[in-house]
Amino acid sequence: MTNILCIGAGYVGGSTMPILASHCPEHRVVLVDINEKRIAAWQSDQLPIYEPGLDEIVRQTRGKNLFFSTEVNRHIAEADIIFVSVNTPTKMFGKGAGKAADLQYWEKTARQILENSTSSKIVVEKSTLPVRTAEAMERILNSNSNGLHFDVLSNPEFLAEGTAVRDMQNPDRVLIGGRETESGQRAVEALVELYAKWVPRDRIITTNLWSSELSKLVANAFLAQRISSINAISALCEKTEADINEVAYAIGRDERIGRYFLRASVGFGGSCYKKDILNLVYLCEHYGLPEVARYWEQVVVMNEYQEARFASNMVASMFNTIAGKRIALFGAAFKANTNDTRESPALEVCRALLEERADVVITDPHALENARNDLGELAKRVTFEPDPYIAANNAHAIAILTEWSQYTQLDYERIYNSMVKPAFIFDGRNLLDHKKLYQMGFNVHPIGKPPLTRLTTNHRA
Ligand code: NAD
Ligand code: UDX
Repeated sequence: MTNILCIGAGYVGGSTMPILASHCPEHRVVLVDINEKRIAAWQSDQLPIYEPGLDEIVRQTRGKNLFFSTEVNRHIAEADIIFVSVNTPTKMFGKGAGKAADLQYWEKTARQILENSTSSKIVVEKSTLPVRTAEAMERILNSNSNGLHFDVLSNPEFLAEGTAVRDMQNPDRVLIGGRETESGQRAVEALVELYAKWVPRDRIITTNLWSSELSKLVANAFLAQRISSINAISALCEKTEADINEVAYAIGRDERIGRYFLRASVGFGGSCYKKDILNLVYLCEHYGLPEVARYWEQVVVMNEYQEARFASNMVASMFNTIAGKRIALFGAAFKANTNDTRESPALEVCRALLEERADVVITDPHALENARNDLGELAKRVTFEPDPYIAANNAHAIAILTEWSQYTQLDYERIYNSMVKPAFIFDGRNLLDHKKLYQMGFNVHPIGKPPLTRLTTNHRA
């Protein structure tokens, strides 16, 4: 039996370790976190994250070979392999503020591992980190004087929220970076063995440490770049009567371009893209590559433009004033099938509408609590309403900001009848049937397509 520990029971630790435990019943997997509330939630029926399919796997493994605890030190002492998936947010102070990764949680963890270890261990970076972080980790850990040896591996996580279970069960690839020394390669092999319990060997890629660390930042940068590219073109479509869905389809049929990740939207959100690109930008600056830094920074600049453009288009379309108007935001999560609202474009749009003194009501099936927390003081000025029909009642406009499939099933006739006229729909995800909505009487503003607007109110086509 191998004692496997994961430090950090957040989105990544919490959605990967139960699956690891389910495939490795002969090993013991413990998830620890300093956040007592989070650990209590993992031990309850109400898990702290909403991730389709996860509840069942946790139910099957919890108490058998999967355990949750706040006793970080004790479990470090017992562990053979330690995954570290603590948060690595953007640094908001000092050198590199606003761009570099804040490694304070990471370094604290390294020191804690050192202080509580009585045997040699494999330490696995699962958090997303600047390239060459493993070097610092190795130096801290191997600074001990009691003869312990630590092998540090990089094993970045590529799961996406909302599909985390599927992504972990059936990954495109698993990436493991290690030192090219004998002990480094033994450690790599031990981790390969673990994953090989359910991942075909040809999908397990092994590289040197630095390639692995850098590949994670680059993967996210490339994915976000595609979204910013299609969103940039959506702005041009709106000026030229080209249709972004048709353009995306036409270019995506070229196999070299590929059809994925070409959905124009109000912008990309989530805890990773912006943070990881800014981290990449900072690294390029650090290594004296300002042109490369500016190139990647533009992906984030374009995303901010798209979010701002969406909100200002709402104001302009509604006769240049939304002060005192009730506006219903459909969706708070940064994407469907998650309760995560970190960097959600929905909250960016909400902030912009509040600036204009709109009366904002947000509805979402799973993310209202996180939205309230993320909005902080502004939350006092927002109504949080789980029922979309009630949210839309008496509203001047609806903005679709998260692509929840529930929103395609609603009775929009009923919604239209309950709204102030002229009624507007701004579809920030191109989710709905725009022609049908227009025929009901709505003024419809999609992304990257000509708007379907009416001159008169209550006019049916
Ligand atoms: P998160 O904030 O949800 O979870 C991190 C957890 O670590 C928190 O619960 C925090 O309390 C805990 N923690 C911090 N310091 C600790 C310590 N010293 N001891 C014990 N626990 C500690 O973050 P996340 O979304 O799970 O992301 C974790 C890492 O994985 C980040 O580096 C992120 O970039 C990366 N990542 C995230 C995703 C994603 O989709 N969220 C995907 C791939 C990679
Ligand atoms: C991303 C990466 O996909 C994943 O591999 C990495 O491990 C973590 O970061 P995540 O942020 O959870 O995952 O979700 P993702 O599906 O990538 O979506 C990110 C944002 O981009 C969402 O706001 C989504 O709505 C938006 N998006 C995605 C688009 O606007 N258009 C698209 O075509 C795809």
